[in-house]
Amino acid sequence: MKITVIGAGYVGLVTAVCLAEVGHEVLCAKKTTRNLDKLRNGISPIYELGLTEMLQSNLKRGRIEFTTDMEKAVEFSDVIFICVGTPSNQKGEADLDQVFEVSRSVAEHMDRYKLLIEKSTVPVNTHQKIEKIMSSITDIEFEVASNPEFLSEGNSVHNFMHPHRIVVGVASERARKIFQEIYEPFTSEGYPLLFSDVASAEIIKYASNAFLAIKISYINMIADLCEKTGANIDYVSRGVGLDHRIGDKFLDAGLGYGGSCLPKDVNALIETYQEYQLDNGLLVETRKINQQRREKFYEDIMEALEKVDGKTITIWGLAFKPNTDDIRAAPAVDIVQKLKESGAKLKLYDPQAKENFSRKIPEEGNITYYQDKYEALEDSDALVIITDWKEFEEPDMDKIKELMNSPNIFDGRNILDKELMAQKEFNYYSMGR
Ligand code: UGA
Repeated sequence: MKITVIGAGYVGLVTAVCLAEVGHEVLCAKKTTRNLDKLRNGISPIYELGLTEMLQSNLKRGRIEFTTDMEKAVEFSDVIFICVGTPSNQKGEADLDQVFEVSRSVAEHMDRYKLLIEKSTVPVNTHQKIEKIMSSITDIEFEVASNPEFLSEGNSVHNFMHPHRIVVGVASERARKIFQEIYEPFTSEGYPLLFSDVASAEIIKYASNAFLAIKISYINMIADLCEKTGANIDYVSRGVGLDHRIGDKFLDAGLGYGGSCLPKDVNALIETYQEYQLDNGLLVETRKINQQRREKFYEDIMEALEKVDGKTITIWGLAFKPNTDDIRAAPAVDIVQKLKESGAKLKLYDPQAKENFSRKIPEEGNITYYQDKYEALEDSDALVIITDWKEFEEPDMDKIKELMNSPNIFDGRNILDKELMAQKEFNYYSMGR
């Protein structure tokens, strides 16, 4: 099937490449020529496991192409996925400017029926707004459907190819049939395709992300109780998570959630509740608990080190989570900024996110970036772990002790073994243990 994907960012590119992988003929349109040559030459501008290989093999098979020509993109197919960004605006609402711009452009260029698919995360009833915009421009028949993405960064190719569920909100039998055809390669493998009305599909996306955020803030709230009472959140998380009704995922206590999705979607849902005059207290509290994790961690460091000014602190982990170079809304941004302001000398290490992070907090004065995690520890007064990269899980503790000035470790993700830290005589601080 011929499919147009508009947007070649993280969602657009993964969607386009994976749809080509299962046999569709895909034209991926982007607004600017930035990275266009790279994409055409099989170089993915984003770091995502398996994406480059899949992009290259589908370019070779001739199943995917890239363009900046919107007219060509609209002409190419009757099925158009909208995968442009919906970032938070000043108020915290989802900024839909790009979605509306694409809708206008499709309406202006179309000469036959089109099915527009919201893949980007958009608030409930955005489809009605798109319909209104398009109807004011064209009389030609079109439909708007919702097919939210559930891709988790670092793992998104795998998530797309092996979905827990494919959610589709449609208003007609015609649109339903189109989706059955698009996703036949998945349904034939047994992956569930859930149809609903369009508004429900729009809500499913927010309800899912907000639920994950609530789960994280909930376990972090319990972690505080553990810390005060001498209990250990590791045991508590495990004990709670073994109940199948609750599940053991997203119960890792620590510095809370960051990234470009959970914080943005909780904010947007808070605003939606406000718009419909519904009580948004649970969501507001979720966001508050999440923000407090970073502040608490910073204060714990300050308290333990007494005087931070002039001390050398090593940071391991800058990305908002492992296996990505993304630093959007990452706890590290707030924590490093605060430590910088407090006058500490900072040595930063991350396996993937150094480049992005140094654009935000450049290497100058008291800030130095390192290529090697041990090198970053030389003469350090404290090690602060912010991201749970696998390579931080079992480091050489004797080597670490030898390299550091003082054996202080602040583990914001509870990834080190508490007993081992005591054995090796580190001053070890973690969250809720
Ligand atoms: C999230 C959802 O998991 C995806 O299903 C969704 O499609 C995506 O948002 C999106 O809307 O595009 P993502 O933001 O990539 O995916 O990352 P997550 O794996 O959800 O992690 C979010 C944050 O929560 C990270 O900062 C992570 O460190 C933190 N986290 C996660 C915890 O603090 N504790 C946990 O137990 C799990």
